[in-house]
Amino acid sequence: MPQPAVTLTNLSRSYREGYRDHRVLDHAELRIERGESVALLGRSGSGKSTLLNLIAGIDRPDKGEIRIDGESITRLEEPALTLLRRRRIGFVYQFFNLIPTLTTRENIALPLELNHCAKAMMTDKVQQMLEAVDLSRRGDAYPEQLSGGEQQRVAIARALVHRPALLLADEPTGNLDQAAGKNVLGLMTTLAREEQSSLLLVTHSLAVARYADRILTLEEGRLSESGMEAAW
Ligand SMILES: Nc1ncnc2c1ncn2[C@@H]1O[C@H](COP(=O)(O)OP(=O)(O)OP(=O)(O)O)[C@@H](O)[C@H]1O
Ligand SMILES: [Mg+2]
Repeated sequence: MPQPAVTLTNLSRSYREGYRDHRVLDHAELRIERGESVALLGRSGSGKSTLLNLIAGIDRPDKGEIRIDGESITRLEEPALTLLRRRRIGFVYQFFNLIPTLTTRENIALPLELNHCAKAMMTDKVQQMLEAVDLSRRGDAYPEQLSGGEQQRVAIARALVHRPALLLADEPTGNLDQAAGKNVLGLMTTLAREEQSSLLLVTHSLAVARYADRILTLEEGRLSESGMEAAW
């Protein structure tokens, strides 16, 4: 049996707020199988981005354990975490995080550069992704020259270009019109299916959440299965 893509056990994370602690995650539990796509709903401030940052190893939990492909990352040192992110994880941030001094093409190539991909293969893969997100004509533009929706598509192409085993996407369709949003969701769920990679997708839209195999809600620091009727 393959290990689950993600296992969270008893995960807690608080932030200091003046003299008290604000507990954002409170003994949260989660298991995502390989090839499974999971949508995460929850009110603004409920801790969705915090959860994604913990799974990606960008932030550290106060308590509990995070396993990626069966391997505990909770006690990994920074260099090992960096390698894990670079090789196995794709992250679409809530606020794009594109590098302003790099063109569209260079931003998308970044994960391949970091993984020392051969030049010819890199050019091919970047071109494929540019076409997939319908940005072939904007390959040499810089982020500030792109619309919000175009920047979002660059961020999605960058997150998928190295075919990560786990894709974490924080409101990836928030800035897209319906057609572009559908396109991007199609891309992400196809990748999950074809490559047996897993997807954790934060969204406020129930229509978007329905693309996933399963919908979870984050409330009061805990994750629970939620029916298709939940909406935020
Ligand atoms: N670095 C930080 N320091 C202090 N408090 C933080 C920090 N990051 C997040 N918080 C707090 O933790 C809570 C959860 O934040 P988070 O960004 O995870 O919410 P979210 O569910 O992603 O919200 P949204 O839907 O608005 O993006 C919020 O109350 C926020 O103010
Ligand atoms: Mg957020």
